[in-house]
Amino acid sequence: MIIVIANQKGGVGKTTTAINLAAGLAGQRKKVLLIDLDPQSNSSLSFLEPERVNGGAYELFAEPSRSADELVYETAVPNLSLIPARINLAKLEAKLIGDFDAAFKLRDRVEKLKGKYDVILIDTPPTLGILTVNAMVAANHIIIPIQSSYFALEGTDDLLETIERIRSTPNPDLNLMGVVVTLFDRRTTISKDVEAHIRSVFGKKTFKTVISRSVRLEESPAHKKAIFDYAPRSSGAAEYQSLSKEVLKRA
Ligand SMILES: Nc1ncnc2c1ncn2[C@@H]1O[C@H](COP(=O)(O)OP(=O)(O)O)[C@@H](O)[C@H]1O
Ligand SMILES: [Mg+2]
Repeated sequence: MIIVIANQKGGVGKTTTAINLAAGLAGQRKKVLLIDLDPQSNSSLSFLEPERVNGGAYELFAEPSRSADELVYETAVPNLSLIPARINLAKLEAKLIGDFDAAFKLRDRVEKLKGKYDVILIDTPPTLGILTVNAMVAANHIIIPIQSSYFALEGTDDLLETIERIRSTPNPDLNLMGVVVTLFDRRTTISKDVEAHIRSVFGKKTFKTVISRSVRLEESPAHKKAIFDYAPRSSGAAEYQSLSKEVLKRA
């Protein structure tokens, strides 16, 4: 299965979810490939030293003759491989403009990789631009992280409309797997109100697991670790483990 993590809002927990869900699924003995499509490359930096990288997502799009296997890096987490992003990915949009198949580049590459993995997870930038659209065209599931704060649902109409547009022609197989409430703070009423509101809008599509705000989750990327290695007994580890199980049940 190919899962895209998307929300055009920044700072809602896409990357944190991509990293820890990837590690959580790898821990459930799934062979996982994480593709980082955010030029900020935060997912990549959580697992790889940038010096090790001499090709990644940009080359996947821009150099079709180069074997995708060359762009895949093993991480320290067993069963978890990565196609990293570098800042050159920011130039891709300009390069693809005008290509008749601009939205299909990733699908063609992923098609050849998918037999080797149980799960391919794609982290996306905070826009609904060509990179995110490519990920939605390539994927069969989408997970939307929504931060439990006041303007949580602002922008979700545009996101859902984009999903519908992609389902209508290029990719009818794209399924909204679920919405995950992130950055939840159980001490505040606003967090609880927003969670209730999200559940009322998305119903059963809302994952039972809620990801709490936690210092450990915020710290772990700086230590180049997923939460399961950095703080295995933390709430964040338990929550991402539980989310991983829910994802496998919904697959
Ligand atoms: N559950 C959480 N608890 C604490 N900090 C978090 C949590 N989720 C994300 N963060 C932090 O919030 C910021 C934005 O999260 P990130 O996952 O990078 O969002 P996005 O990829 O959607 O921009 C980062 O500094 C990240 O470490
Ligand atoms: Mg991100």
